[in-house]
Amino acid sequence: MSAVTSFSIAERFSDVGFSEIVIIRNKILAMKREGHQIFQFEGGEPFPNTPQIIKDACSQALADNKTRYAPSSGIPELLAALTAKLNKKNKIPAESSHVIVVAGGMHGLFAAFQAVLDPEDEVLLFSPYWTPTKDLISMTGGKTVLVNTLKAIKEGISATLKAHLTSKTRLLCLSSPQNPTGIVFNKEQMQEIANFVQTHNLLVISDEAYEDIVYDQEHISIASFPEMYRRTLSCFTFSKSYAMTGWRLGYTVAPEPFITAMKQSVLYSTNGVSTPTQWAGLAAITQVSGFMEENLAIYRQRRDLLVNGLNELGFDCAMPGGAFYAFPSIKRFGKSSREVAAMLLSEAKIATVPGNVFGPDGEGHLRFSYSVSVETIAAGLEALRKFA
Ligand SMILES: Cc1ncc(COP(=O)(O)O)c(C=O)c1O
Repeated sequence: MSAVTSFSIAERFSDVGFSEIVIIRNKILAMKREGHQIFQFEGGEPFPNTPQIIKDACSQALADNKTRYAPSSGIPELLAALTAKLNKKNKIPAESSHVIVVAGGMHGLFAAFQAVLDPEDEVLLFSPYWTPTKDLISMTGGKTVLVNTLKAIKEGISATLKAHLTSKTRLLCLSSPQNPTGIVFNKEQMQEIANFVQTHNLLVISDEAYEDIVYDQEHISIASFPEMYRRTLSCFTFSKSYAMTGWRLGYTVAPEPFITAMKQSVLYSTNGVSTPTQWAGLAAITQVSGFMEENLAIYRQRRDLLVNGLNELGFDCAMPGGAFYAFPSIKRFGKSSREVAAMLLSEAKIATVPGNVFGPDGEGHLRFSYSVSVETIAAGLEALRKFA
């Protein structure tokens, strides 16, 4: 261990990483500046622009001088609309005082982990996982225990989870649909997870960022199962559902005592989300219709095109049940995911994310986003052909 000096950072930051995706993005930008055309599959953004009605609501809020401090947990109008949405769509039995507005899914997860984890607490995390999740856990001093999702599905979820359980296990972190794999847990699997956490008296942090991008079943919120609400902190975001990634708007729902701790975490981090953005969020929840359904049909078409194309080229790729990522195997190259991603970028101008960015269980894969145009998918597949 290094000696602590006046210039040391807090010990718990020693295990916190910086997003490798940013490094990849910088490389792509440099290549574009040199004049290369890049087939960009590395992103994590919905393809549409934010609906006009949402932007108009923000402009109106500015015109109406709704620009002053709002309650740090959210404006009452938005909290009421979110509570109604959570009750109806997610079947989460929340009261309005259990809902808070946060600065995107990331901030909701930050507040949730801060609220419940003490140093050395262990978190069961399905893996491969969305990279920041592990860093958010590390920032509390907590420890991540990876649970391979495919192994759990194949060999039994409870048995696999149980093999990772210790006396320090405090909570299970669940994300369905999952990023990067697109895996969606079905109702029986969710029930099994619910039974497991109840048997072992664990809490759940449920990341539902992709709740509106689920192809062949209804999205299921684990907090809707009987007896689950009291032990679940559920995190939602406007980013993917309403194409609002840059607005930084999300919400979380949890019962007491957790929600008070989360409110404190928000109060002492951002002191709330910008007021005009919250009015825009209200328009999103109450006035946008048909947007998600239209996008879902487009995502499905692009998913099928990319995944079938990858399989035809010999990249073994499971059909994702949700989100907008494909996660094909690149094992036949006999190289690391980092090497294959670098090779595809330099030799075929195809940008992807190496699977190991999403933890050791992601090694042997690349993440492709299909939230890109049909033309990009077709041209990208064509460029991949030389590696078939
Ligand atoms: C699984 C998952 N959870 C949460 C988020 C956070 O979304 P945001 O902070 O943009 O609202 C993302 C974003 O990519 C994600 O992929």
